[in-house]
Amino acid sequence: MKIKFVGILGLFVLSSCGQSKKETASASDCDSTLTYDSSIKTIVNTNCVGCHGAGSSNGNFSTLALLQADKADVYSEVASGSMPKGNSAFKDSADGRSLKAWLSCSTLK
Ligand code: HEC
Repeated sequence: MKIKFVGILGLFVLSSCGQSKKETASASDCDSTLTYDSSIKTIVNTNCVGCHGAGSSNGNFSTLALLQADKADVYSEVASGSMPKGNSAFKDSADGRSLKAWLSCSTLK
């Protein structure tokens, strides 16, 4: 009984430590019909740039080039539900799914 409890506690501690598991994009999830100008810019401006604009010390994601440069990190943060900060439901919303599908493409356009 005691051992079982410690085991469950250990699992809880491991799974609540978000940084230990990195979500990675899979090219097969790419939706190439999505473009920065047609939809992604609005999604990112609405959900991210308030905290991640020019001058942010936590990362500036206000342009296509900046998103491309940090693509793997951005995908990981969104897919794990860590970002947008305080909104873990975003990743399963329509906008969240579009953003993940776009970030899964090898070249962002
Ligand atoms: C309410 C403010 C807020 C919002 C909204 C927000 N973030 Fe963050 N973000 C932060 C803070 C603060 C950090 C620094 C780490 C931490 O505190 O978790 C961070 C860290 C990050 C990082 C890791 C830092 C790096 O340089 O790689 C990424 C990637 C990221 N955010 C992406 C996003 C994306 C994408 C969105 C929108 C879908 C978003 N964030 C929305 C506040 C926010």
